[in-house]
Amino acid sequence: MRAKLLAMIPAAALLLAACVEVPPPGDDARADARDAAKVARGAAVYERSCASCHGARLEGQPNWRMRPANGRLPAPPHDASGHTWHHPDSVLFAITRHGLVPPHAPGGYESDMPAFGGSLSDEEIWAALAYIKKQWPAEVLAARAEMLRNRGPR
Ligand code: HEC
Repeated sequence: MRAKLLAMIPAAALLLAACVEVPPPGDDARADARDAAKVARGAAVYERSCASCHGARLEGQPNWRMRPANGRLPAPPHDASGHTWHHPDSVLFAITRHGLVPPHAPGGYESDMPAFGGSLSDEEIWAALAYIKKQWPAEVLAARAEMLRNRGPR
């Protein structure tokens, strides 16, 4: 009995380690919202580079779902009411760095979302994403993990 119990310990430890170590699907360690220093850096980046369109409180532009006459969509919210959280971190990073170009938008797609690759470092982009993710409530993080797990790697 004792030997059997002892034999179970490594398996249990492994399981526990898996729970602690494996990040939820869609999460990239470079946008870790638990890293307070990164989130603080990201808040500054967000305020300087993103807030003018996506809102000081991540609320987006008014009527962001409506395409105005010029055909270009307004900036969506980055808070729980938007769809930013539907995407894995890798996609959010690519959109922020390159803008809405293929493969994340159709070729020739016209958008007011700038490409930040020339003005922000990768580190600054990941920090801004960590700051954005920090604002999402636990239910949204859980729903995101569930959605991305079902969707599979992409
Ligand atoms: C000049 C205005 C403007 C600024 C500044 C701006 N954005 Fe955007 N952003 C937009 C618009 C407009 C869209 C939606 C475009 C579309 O769907 O056609 C968008 C979309 C996005 C998306 C895709 C969201 C989704 O759910 O598909 C991400 C991610 C994003 N922005 C991140 C950022 C980050 C991070 C910053 C700051 C580093 C930033 N944006 C700064 C205008 C802006």
